[in-house]
Amino acid sequence: MKTIIEPFKIKSVEPISFNTKEERFEILEKADYNPFQVKAGDVLIDLLTDSGTSAMSSNQWAGVMMGDESYAGSAGFFHFEKTVKDITGFPIVIPTHQGRAAEKILFSILGGKGKWFISNTLFDTTRANIEFSGAEGIDLLCEEGKHPSVPSAFKGNMDIEALKRVIGEKGAENIPMVIMTVTNNSGGGQPVSMQNIKEASAVCKEHRIPFFIDACRFAENSYFIKLREEGYADRSVPEIAAELFSYADGCTMSAKKDAFANIGGFLAMKDPELAAKCRNLLIITEGFTTYGGLAGRDLEAIAIGLKEVMDEHYLQYRIRSVEYLTNKLIAAGIPVMQPAGGHAVYIDAKAFLPHIPVDQYPGQALVCALYIEGGIRSVEIGSLMFGKYDANHQLKPAQMELIRLAIPRRVYTQSHIDYVAEIVINVFESKDSLRGLTITEETALLRHFTAKLKPV
Ligand code: F0G
Repeated sequence: MKTIIEPFKIKSVEPISFNTKEERFEILEKADYNPFQVKAGDVLIDLLTDSGTSAMSSNQWAGVMMGDESYAGSAGFFHFEKTVKDITGFPIVIPTHQGRAAEKILFSILGGKGKWFISNTLFDTTRANIEFSGAEGIDLLCEEGKHPSVPSAFKGNMDIEALKRVIGEKGAENIPMVIMTVTNNSGGGQPVSMQNIKEASAVCKEHRIPFFIDACRFAENSYFIKLREEGYADRSVPEIAAELFSYADGCTMSAKKDAFANIGGFLAMKDPELAAKCRNLLIITEGFTTYGGLAGRDLEAIAIGLKEVMDEHYLQYRIRSVEYLTNKLIAAGIPVMQPAGGHAVYIDAKAFLPHIPVDQYPGQALVCALYIEGGIRSVEIGSLMFGKYDANHQLKPAQMELIRLAIPRRVYTQSHIDYVAEIVINVFESKDSLRGLTITEETALLRHFTAKLKPV
């Protein structure tokens, strides 16, 4: 059978409102060329993020109705806790309202001036939480990951030699944690191999540095290991996930991704001393230790979603549908990150718009063009998101200028995706007429959310 069908039927639908190209021109101008400022109702296909945008299953909705809203010790917490323990093997589970809340707690405790956190690639909120604590983040992406158009099986890997070198340079005592992001979101949604996780873990053990997984997309990463890494074809996804977590001392998780929940997250770990400090902060900022900023019903939805996400029919459909869009764009000659990532298609904006210099944000120019052409909302992952300034206020650009078309889980059908491909191809055909942008207003941290821009 060649056709892989969506492994669900649709029970409830949400209408899309249509608008014209002329209307979208005006909307974007009013939003200062920043689609984060566009109203969701003015978007036809929303590929801004795969976070919190999943369609929950009928079982999850049933779980919502069963949610126990007791302040302390709700039934939902114990279901949630057992599920996370079963999947990860970590004995301590602390709920948080989303991934960055887990990060904030962890880095407030472990961060501070003079500390360095090493990763394959830190996600933007992770980096921001590290920097907010006064510490610094270092990304050590493997060489293959830095070349968008060159396919390779595990482009999310960490450069292990660089890890050893940086530990030598900075001193293990100044590195409170190494964080492996699976899949590597900012690096293209690319997976990390089990071998790489094992090697990074061994280096950390040797230097007594805690090794954590940023586990937002652990199921997608586990499925890639099954598909691509020798020795895993006959292992089940839960088995692969269990092995992956077995090399780590703990994890942070946003349940808004691979748990199909609209909100939620957690910290899980082995170290009871660190956990005690985390729980103290949790109570001040998030809530009591058995709800951590969530409603009881959210905990149920997460527990059920975490089990559903490891279904291999689902994962096959998920990975295949992202690949379907990627391959359509490749066939049209569009420069995309290859091979397809797990949750999104990444277009190389530098190659798509070679006439726009990096300090005129080619990624953002492309994001704006897709919105105007077809009402598609995407996000820039390049110098607007990660660029910094040097002492002379000159832009120090990001490693890559990508844009991300993130595919919400179980939300869009194949014809929505065909439409997306058609719009991207239309924009590609008239790319020479696109212009760059300049920033007129920005904040010091996470500027891409609120930055105002205008065409040059
Ligand atoms: N880590 C990774 C790898 C992420 O992708 C995200 C969120 C977080 C941490 C933070 O989790 O949103 O629950 O606070 N990524 C979203 C995205 C926002 O669009 O990729 P959160």
